[in-house]
Amino acid sequence: MKLLIIGSGGREHALAWKLKQSRKVDKIFCAPGNGGIAQIAKCVNIPADNIRSLVDFAQRNKIGLTVVGPEVALAKGIVDEFQKKRLKIFGPEKKAAQLESSKVFSKEFMKKYHIPTAPFRVFSTVAEAIGFCNAVEFPIVIKAEGLAAGKGVIIARDKDEAVRSIENIMLKKVFGNAGKRIVIESFLRGQEASIMAFTDGKTVVPMLSSQDHKQAYDGDRGPNTGGMGAYCPTTIVDDDLMEQIRDYVLLPTINGLHQEGITYKGVLYVGLMITESGPKVVEYNCRFGDPETQAVLPLMKTDLLEVMMATVNQKLASLSALDWRHESAACVVMASKGYPAKYQKGIKISGLQNATDNACPVFHAGTQKKDNQWVTSGGRVLGVVGIDKNLKLALNRAYKTVNKVRFQGAMFRRDIGAKALSKQEGT
Ligand code: AMP
Ligand code: GLY
Repeated sequence: MKLLIIGSGGREHALAWKLKQSRKVDKIFCAPGNGGIAQIAKCVNIPADNIRSLVDFAQRNKIGLTVVGPEVALAKGIVDEFQKKRLKIFGPEKKAAQLESSKVFSKEFMKKYHIPTAPFRVFSTVAEAIGFCNAVEFPIVIKAEGLAAGKGVIIARDKDEAVRSIENIMLKKVFGNAGKRIVIESFLRGQEASIMAFTDGKTVVPMLSSQDHKQAYDGDRGPNTGGMGAYCPTTIVDDDLMEQIRDYVLLPTINGLHQEGITYKGVLYVGLMITESGPKVVEYNCRFGDPETQAVLPLMKTDLLEVMMATVNQKLASLSALDWRHESAACVVMASKGYPAKYQKGIKISGLQNATDNACPVFHAGTQKKDNQWVTSGGRVLGVVGIDKNLKLALNRAYKTVNKVRFQGAMFRRDIGAKALSKQEGT
């Protein structure tokens, strides 16, 4: 079968890497892809949100399955357009993608279907939002309604910070139209976990739990990013908790959508805060997480194409449980100096040739090969993965590889997985 993967990040590299292991896959195309993906797939120069050209490409090249990475294409309705042409595509349709593309939609949806989440209010004027901040306990969480590449959430510690954030989002429009409306919600305390599950709209099959590291700097300091690293599995989500998450979050979500006339097919991602009173949804994503995917897929033994086809064909119930390696994986993101704000591109990367081995894939997020030289081409540049018997060893492996790769101004967190390790060691 010929596959088309849409996107250009580390997640898409991991998807291509895993799908390539399937015996049923003949050829993988990726639109637009990146330097690393080009080593294992044929990259085609079509932007991820140019739906018409992608439909056309899939038809002309007899693509058996298209896999969508990024949320923007889903929010623009790529799945609906492919389905109109009877092309198989992995991902939810536009209406379902609102779970991610509109925080107002997702919060109201959770309220309606009693899915545990932080109490919230929606505001469409600055005055009302600021007025509300006179009577709240801090910290509070302020969220732009729309898509902001994981950066549209501000945790305000006092009223001044809240007012500044509201003005930045609603008046200065730092997130553009995504900030026309905002959600203000209570701050939840606890540990975070990401759960990604395959679903065909009827059956839900969770993957191993993982944890992202959203802030730019060590100690969870600095601005939110798309994600600076991840590890899998988490220690906090044990079998009991996974069952709770399935029963109180995943299934009610799928069933609620069903009641709204929406069949959700693809990966449903829930970002959770595990609080003293149980798991609460912090966010939905309607796709694989980045960088969680880079840590989760290397542990998956099951053929990913088989699971994806079962999802698209609504046959997940007949698939036996997913098979996993009983190991840990860690992904450390190396980013450009300045990320998530402005950064330079075109900086030479050295050491990559010594960095990759089978036990330690290096997924490319923002790279290009120019005149036989690797250069940076994005904010997040590489996702370096380590896999081993336990988290500590997996992290050692990942950081050993990180130290072999160099580019000027390279930024990475030195504490990926550190909190989980210190808990395991009882320190
Ligand atoms: P989101 O894009 O909604 O996932 O938010 C980004 C990050 O902000 C989350 O991963 C959390 O670390 C943090 N966050 C979001 N909402 C809350 C909340 N209600 N309480 C505490 N932290 C939150
Ligand atoms: N790692 C969070 C996301 O993919 O949005």
